[in-house]
Amino acid sequence: MTESILAITGPTSGIGRATVKELVHDFDRILLLARNLKKAACLKKELLDVNPKVKIELIECDLSILTSVRQASHTITYKYNHIDCLINNAGIVKTSRRESMDGYELMMATNYIGPFLLTHELLPIIMNSERKQITVVSSGAYKFAPMKKPFFKPKHFNPISGYGRSKLGTLYLAQELYEFYSRKGLRVTAVHPGAVSTNIGKDNVSKQLADTIFNLLDPFFVSVEEGSQSVIKAVRQPEKYAGFYSDQGEIAAVKQYGSDFKMRREFIDATLKELDLQAL
Ligand SMILES: NC(=O)c1ccc[n+]([C@@H]2O[C@H](COP(=O)([O-])OP(=O)(O)OC[C@H]3O[C@@H](n4cnc5c(N)ncnc54)[C@H](OP(=O)(O)O)[C@@H]3O)[C@@H](O)[C@H]2O)c1
Repeated sequence: MTESILAITGPTSGIGRATVKELVHDFDRILLLARNLKKAACLKKELLDVNPKVKIELIECDLSILTSVRQASHTITYKYNHIDCLINNAGIVKTSRRESMDGYELMMATNYIGPFLLTHELLPIIMNSERKQITVVSSGAYKFAPMKKPFFKPKHFNPISGYGRSKLGTLYLAQELYEFYSRKGLRVTAVHPGAVSTNIGKDNVSKQLADTIFNLLDPFFVSVEEGSQSVIKAVRQPEKYAGFYSDQGEIAAVKQYGSDFKMRREFIDATLKELDLQAL
């Protein structure tokens, strides 16, 4: 029997960490794509304690750096001829303007451009698997702002619209994948996990301030175990969730900017051009 393989980005914290801890019995092999290999090595030990039979591999991948994404993809495609399920989970929030090494606004680079390239590079071996599954951790923040040109190097920075646009990008990616590959068997779901108590955004302020803010907000957030359930459900129940946007486990209509087909086309085409790719 062919071994089943899961690849997940951002497994070292928050929703990704809780997700992979629960999915540790669902796959024969798990590829942990992480920018911090020390954290990933600790996680590997924890996962093996829970399931000594699972094979765990660490793949260094900084999604904000295109060469790192290409290297990680190359490492994977060189070794494996199939991946059953890719979970595009990693993401960041930045409250001040930062640029990636490639010159893109950092949230757009990390949350959208890197995952787009990774997905593109892994798609042939995902389509070569039995499950053919991609789960995109998007966000209800896609409703924050319409996509605006210049897409990847905006003239003005606003943390709310900047984050929102990067997550709208992930939603467009999921829709594009569905449109072009679902007939060939790809099962893709975009997920909004809800407001979840994780480390996201905490690196923008001092630890003391982060703890104060997050303690105040904590009653409004769900735990990582609860927040990860929508991702886990999408992975475990593709017959229910494939082709849909899951809002905390409930299938929901995509509204406003999320259903702007013309803008989606323009944005995806611009991404392909930027990355020098012919098609997704
Ligand atoms: N928390 C929420 O309320 C919420 C709501 C809606 C959507 N989301 C989405 O959920 C996803 C997971 O976020 P989270 O809340 O669990 O945050 P988190 O606790 O901060 O975890 C983020 C993960 O992404 C990784 N990561 C960050 N930058 C990276 C990079 N350049 N390259 C590779 N990996 C990188 C982090 O690695 P390190 O461990 O090395 O930092 C970490 O593993 C994100 O896509 C986020 O947008 C979260």
